[in-house]
Amino acid sequence: MTSTAPAPASVESFRDEFPIFRHSLYLNSCSLGALSIRARARVNEYLDLWENRGAAAWYDVWWAALDELRQGYGRIVGAPAAEIALHPNISSALTAVGESLDYRKRPKVVVTSLDFPTIAYQWLAKAGEGVEVVVVESPDDTRVPLEAIERAVDDRTALIATSHVFFTSGALQDARAIAEIAHRKGALALIDGYQAAGQVPVDVKALGVDFYCAGGLKWLLGGTGVAFLYVAPHLTQSLAPRATGWFAHRDQFRFDSRALVRHDDARRFEAGTPPLMPVYAQLGGLEILEQIGSAEIRRRTMELTEDLIECARAAGLRPKVAPDAAERTAIVMLPSDDPHRDVRRLADAHIVTDARPGHVRVSPYFYNVRDDHRAAIERLTRE
Ligand SMILES: Cc1ncc(COP(=O)(O)O)c(C=O)c1O
Repeated sequence: MTSTAPAPASVESFRDEFPIFRHSLYLNSCSLGALSIRARARVNEYLDLWENRGAAAWYDVWWAALDELRQGYGRIVGAPAAEIALHPNISSALTAVGESLDYRKRPKVVVTSLDFPTIAYQWLAKAGEGVEVVVVESPDDTRVPLEAIERAVDDRTALIATSHVFFTSGALQDARAIAEIAHRKGALALIDGYQAAGQVPVDVKALGVDFYCAGGLKWLLGGTGVAFLYVAPHLTQSLAPRATGWFAHRDQFRFDSRALVRHDDARRFEAGTPPLMPVYAQLGGLEILEQIGSAEIRRRTMELTEDLIECARAAGLRPKVAPDAAERTAIVMLPSDDPHRDVRRLADAHIVTDARPGHVRVSPYFYNVRDDHRAAIERLTRE
């Protein structure tokens, strides 16, 4: 029997959808995912609606776009739309969680030294209310042992809040084990998946986490201004965020200032009007990711990560990465005595990377090819 179905496109063929590659080698997706033609087209669609219909577009098209995005983010993490709250950034999603917990009997929040600091700041800001932030240190600046996290958690702990993938090393944490540690001690687990969702398949149900946040900026290809918070459904009704707004109200168009009746689903963790331009950009980015599929993206990014590490080692560099390939993701830290100078030198050759203390951070994605690595390493190590 012959099939008339077209052969599936190779993942590399999606590179043509990202115009930046016409003039640059883009290797900085963990700072900001590249803009796709599809994301731009969806933004143009939003601008056309704004121009032609004004506010009339709210009640049918734009409202539907918000639902479409909750569903899309839900598919990314394996949850229904009702378990997803939209936020403009991770810090704002963390605020909704931070303002929904009761710290009277459990004043401790456990984070790690490798997490993005906006996590710790959320709870350091509550020191005046008696909240104690415990920072679990990393022995190698790459990973944090689960045993060290377990030792930090006790019956005074409200929450473990840590990363799925560390922005500083690319190491993947065992989020399921972290959730188990939290639950054994009666605490909750929040996972910041900003550096994971998109490049790593995520299934919040299998992980058993209570909260999971991520957003468009990096691996989800949606740009700035759009993020989300997953809340496990068994918790939703028992939490009443003190940081709130009219989008959390079950009947927001009654405009009733006398009573705050929160949504029964995760929208009770939302606050105000979501930014529509980023919502549209994100819908375009998600379409590409879903077309390729998370397993294929992970396969491709693992292959690229190993190639980049090999290429760097062959040139005499010693990349700072997790020892085991299964724990690595597409964030590779190359030691440098002057990372800003090196990033500038690469930029002069139209190679886009980023500087972090003591390192040049290189992050390929499915749209990269092995030759991008060779060009970057050759430029970086040239006298
Ligand atoms: C893991 C992680 N969490 C959070 C953030 C920042 O969060 P926000 O969206 O609040 O700027 C970053 C970097 O941008 C990050 O890498």
